[in-house]
Amino acid sequence: MPANGNDRVEIDLGLVEELTNKETAALDAKHRRSLEYREVAKTHLPGGVSSSWQTWPPHPIYVDRGKGSKVWDIDGNEYVDYHNGYGVMVMGHAHPKIVEAVQKRVELGTHFAQPTEDALVCAENLAERFRLPYWRFGNSGTEATMDACRIMRATTGRTKLLKIEGTYHGHHDSLMVSVFPSKDAAGPRDHPASVPQTLGMPEGIVEQVVNVPFNDADAVRRAFEEHPGEFAGMIIEPAMSNCGLVLPDPGYLQQVEDICHANGALLAFDEVKTGCTLAWGGAVEAFGVVPDLVCLAKAIGGGLPCGAIGGTEEALGMIIRGELDQVGTFNGNPLTMAAMKVNLTEVLTKDAYRRFDEVNGIFERCQTVIDKYRLPASVKLLGAKGSIDWRSTPIHEYRDLWEIDDRVPQLAWLWQLNRGVFKSPGSKWESWSSSIVHGDEDVQRYVDNFEELASAIAS
Ligand SMILES: Cc1ncc(COP(=O)(O)O)c(C=O)c1O
Repeated sequence: MPANGNDRVEIDLGLVEELTNKETAALDAKHRRSLEYREVAKTHLPGGVSSSWQTWPPHPIYVDRGKGSKVWDIDGNEYVDYHNGYGVMVMGHAHPKIVEAVQKRVELGTHFAQPTEDALVCAENLAERFRLPYWRFGNSGTEATMDACRIMRATTGRTKLLKIEGTYHGHHDSLMVSVFPSKDAAGPRDHPASVPQTLGMPEGIVEQVVNVPFNDADAVRRAFEEHPGEFAGMIIEPAMSNCGLVLPDPGYLQQVEDICHANGALLAFDEVKTGCTLAWGGAVEAFGVVPDLVCLAKAIGGGLPCGAIGGTEEALGMIIRGELDQVGTFNGNPLTMAAMKVNLTEVLTKDAYRRFDEVNGIFERCQTVIDKYRLPASVKLLGAKGSIDWRSTPIHEYRDLWEIDDRVPQLAWLWQLNRGVFKSPGSKWESWSSSIVHGDEDVQRYVDNFEELASAIAS
């Protein structure tokens, strides 16, 4: 492996492909039942799955059950779970307190489309964590960010939205723009094109969205100057979580908020992935900036379908006064509220988050491995989240991803899978979500597998 000039070696992609072929064959051999099942499942489930992102080459992993830090697939293979349902299961699978709360609630009826008393306890807890007084519940992150768009537009009487290039905010039309734009379609960095992420977007929607690069407050300022009085608000993941973990530069989030407010626009944090994972109070706590709106889902619900939107009195004023409806048959569903209540008040306590300092102390050994083998990579860690950027300098904004060859993170994913570690796949990034119940030995398994991969690539 030749050195690439900055003391890092260049990865031999031919070797990566060779290793990937071996790992794919090894995976297939362990997944005979899954492979057969997929063919049957395809007869009524398109692709054999319930969401297009549940399948990933070479084939979907069909899960049978989970307990604590582990999951088992339908072939009986056991994995340490670092996928964790995209970071939902930060409390671990089948946590006894959540199981008990759900079982008790089931006996009492699971749906009325009327509020139950648990909702207020959940709202009080979220108000303390995210420093925002008012909360409404929904059923997914998509609903939370969709509500944020509507609230920002209704409150300001404007229609345009500002977002960060390369962020995903759910699958509704308003924000399915420039989620993973290709280099060919994305346009210049100082004026990114608005690229529809999916077919089926109605005409005119895409034009309502302007994208700017992450970690660049000047770009936000410029966008407001170029569209005076047009933006209802900006939505941002305070730490990007869908291209590895990309942390905000110091002061960036505060600058963004100041620019939005100076221009009469609202700021919404999409904390669907960062909320209750980066810290007890999510990114609001981790970075000390309180936006007008916070969108939550995933980890707050203890593993049940959930979503929430929180806001200041001003931002949720129209809903408080009854001028704007935020609605949904399953909003504040009793089963979800029961699981969320115990999750927020008894499981994901402030003390529980100390565990991530210990866990991340072990994950840091991946950086030692990277340095030992002089790999062009680096590790990022915060709370329950971590990633390895397969690039000689860390990813700082979406466009940095274009320099990463998909084949390396794909091999890293297969490698862990074949050695008992389940992670969410990603075409150009390697990331994980931990839980408060993962043991030291679970993390060490990841690190050991990583070292074995490093040595194989370096040989
Ligand atoms: C940052 C972010 N926002 C919103 C969503 C949408 O959440 P859901 O899949 O619950 O609709 C996701 C989903 O992964 C996400 O990562």
